[in-house]
Amino acid sequence: MQILDGKKVSQELALKLQGEVATFKAQNIHPKLTIILVGEDPASESYVRSKKKLAESVGLEFDLIRYTPEEMDTAQLIEKIQELNNDQKVHGILVQLPLPKHIYEPEIIKAIDPKKDVDGFTAYNLGKMFLSTDFEELAPCTPLGVIRILESYNIDILGKEAVVVGASNIVGKPMGVMLLNRKATVTICNSKTRDLAAQTRRADILVVAVGKAKFITADMVKEGAVVIDVGINRGEDGKICGDVDFENVAPKTSFITPVPGGCGPMTVACLMENVVKAARRLSGLTTEKTS
Ligand code: GUN
Repeated sequence: MQILDGKKVSQELALKLQGEVATFKAQNIHPKLTIILVGEDPASESYVRSKKKLAESVGLEFDLIRYTPEEMDTAQLIEKIQELNNDQKVHGILVQLPLPKHIYEPEIIKAIDPKKDVDGFTAYNLGKMFLSTDFEELAPCTPLGVIRILESYNIDILGKEAVVVGASNIVGKPMGVMLLNRKATVTICNSKTRDLAAQTRRADILVVAVGKAKFITADMVKEGAVVIDVGINRGEDGKICGDVDFENVAPKTSFITPVPGGCGPMTVACLMENVVKAARRLSGLTTEKTS
């Protein structure tokens, strides 16, 4: 069994991006990420802190715009996004989710210019992913991070049985598409899947994103499988843990991501990759592939 060290791979990616950002700056291009945060959700605060820290360490310009829930409604937030869409100094716009209940999330995501949608959440960027790897330009950061960590350890995807547990728009569904684009045979399970264990036991590559502590147990995993744990939960002992019962599952696997130190840092690094990509395209250094 080998640990997939997301912390190490994310640092290598960050170093590469730092070099690219330096070459941009030499051409007077200053890639900038702007994050909008409404409210004070503690998990969001923590994610935004990590994003700020890595953005600054790779040399990106970074701006955090904070609002109280009382200050913002759907229309006002759309107006702010439009202002950022038109601001040539801004290359990436990220609205931290979840938003307060009185703000309608789909309308907010729709307002983001797809060229600056570094989360890869707009229908435009999600739709393009369906075409092929060539059109995965701004892909959602968590599934992109999973692909990057598999690539880094030279883990083959082609022809493999890949099972994704969780079918969210942000992780499970795009993960399935990205694995399919790389010629895996893909099953995406959801909360209504019958006999989940029968599905997960077939997996050569098992990706889990359900948000339930230690949900995947050893009996659900095939000997020698590659297990990718996207979950970040607090266990009964108060410690951070994943969706996989790591202690009992790890000995059965060929490769497994730990939590923390697996998918979390990869997600943040891939956000930076997307900001650099967006800046490159917005500055005319590359062109967008359109169908
Ligand atoms: N909230 C939890 N994960 C994410 C993410 O990847 N992007 C945004 N914008 N909000 C989140």
